[in-house]
Amino acid sequence: MPDYIDDELLPLAEQFKRSPLDLSGFLEELSDKKISSEMYEVLTQISRGDKLSFENIEYLLTVEADKDKEVLYKTADYFRRKTVGDVIPLRAIIEFSNYCRKSCSYCGINSTVKNLTRYRMKEDEIIGLAKRIKEETGIERLVLQSGEDLFWTKERIVRLVERIVDQLKMKVTLSIGERTREEYDAYRQAGASNYLLKIETTNPELFKSVHPDDLLTERLQYSKWLSELGYINGSGIIIGLPGQTISDIARDIQYFRDLEISMIGIGPFIPARGTLLEDCKPGSIDLTLKAIAAARIVCRRVFIPVTTALTTLSKGAQIEALKCGANVIMIGYTPIEYRKNYNIYNGKARVGIDLALEAIEKSNRKPPNYIKWGDDNAQP
Ligand code: 5AD
Repeated sequence: MPDYIDDELLPLAEQFKRSPLDLSGFLEELSDKKISSEMYEVLTQISRGDKLSFENIEYLLTVEADKDKEVLYKTADYFRRKTVGDVIPLRAIIEFSNYCRKSCSYCGINSTVKNLTRYRMKEDEIIGLAKRIKEETGIERLVLQSGEDLFWTKERIVRLVERIVDQLKMKVTLSIGERTREEYDAYRQAGASNYLLKIETTNPELFKSVHPDDLLTERLQYSKWLSELGYINGSGIIIGLPGQTISDIARDIQYFRDLEISMIGIGPFIPARGTLLEDCKPGSIDLTLKAIAAARIVCRRVFIPVTTALTTLSKGAQIEALKCGANVIMIGYTPIEYRKNYNIYNGKARVGIDLALEAIEKSNRKPPNYIKWGDDNAQP
């Protein structure tokens, strides 16, 4: 029996039910704290079961006073505990190709980036690695990510997914970008249960300024298709893209709520060498944590991974994120010879299973009971 809320158990109907949540004990706990009247108002609205307004979400993203921030994080943590519990599910991510047809201006593997060896893992290589991951760690959820690489045709992806699902009995999340509805349908039929296609930002101008090849209206449409086709729908944003405002982030969070997104990855922007944005400053850790907390409070029963970008900026922030709303960790299993060429931003950290288990312990959470990992194991 799983000791955690599995993806299939994220019941969508309940996810957004806005029944009043009994905050009485929780509010009492806070009674000795001097919180601002705005924060008190937001908490009261939550306890009445009101849908948080745009202004209130914006407010949560701007709290500065230590007491208010502490209350924001505690409230998010309370919602995390009530909705998805204390167990932190782990996923294994394999970045199987860094070829990309797009030129997103923040991304270190975009098609215009030189000084990068392009690679594609072979199907058997991916299968062999997946098998070892399952055998050696117990992790059964695989995230297959790549640049937008059309070498991986519909037929090739279908065969890969089928082998992983049917032969290895693992669950597959795909993260391979924009494809046709028909292709998304074929992957779903082949057994992929989740799809991760981040919106990155819902501000149309900002979206356009960083995505020369894409249209926001189309990206929104792709994401809707994923929900219609029965995927557990993953999205997310980058915090601190040049020109992004707090209001943009508040709208992004409203979008996740309104579209009933089930997985929300929120990570700071980190400049990537060889890109148009290479000299821009990184996104704020503090704002990323506030956005994670606000997303948890607004969207409730959702999966919020600690992004590798956040861990790259600070190992401490990885632990903070788990304490203010985040509840999933992705473990990087891309083989070492390819990993250095999947630097979507500078200095990308490797989140190994040891680091993940340490973060779970330090944040007072529980590892899932399927984990077989012990000190004497060698990492695949
Ligand atoms: N900084 C932070 N996140 C980035 N991503 C891509 N490039 C960057 C960057 N420079 C994120 C995007 C993408 C995911 C795979 O990585 O959100 O969806």
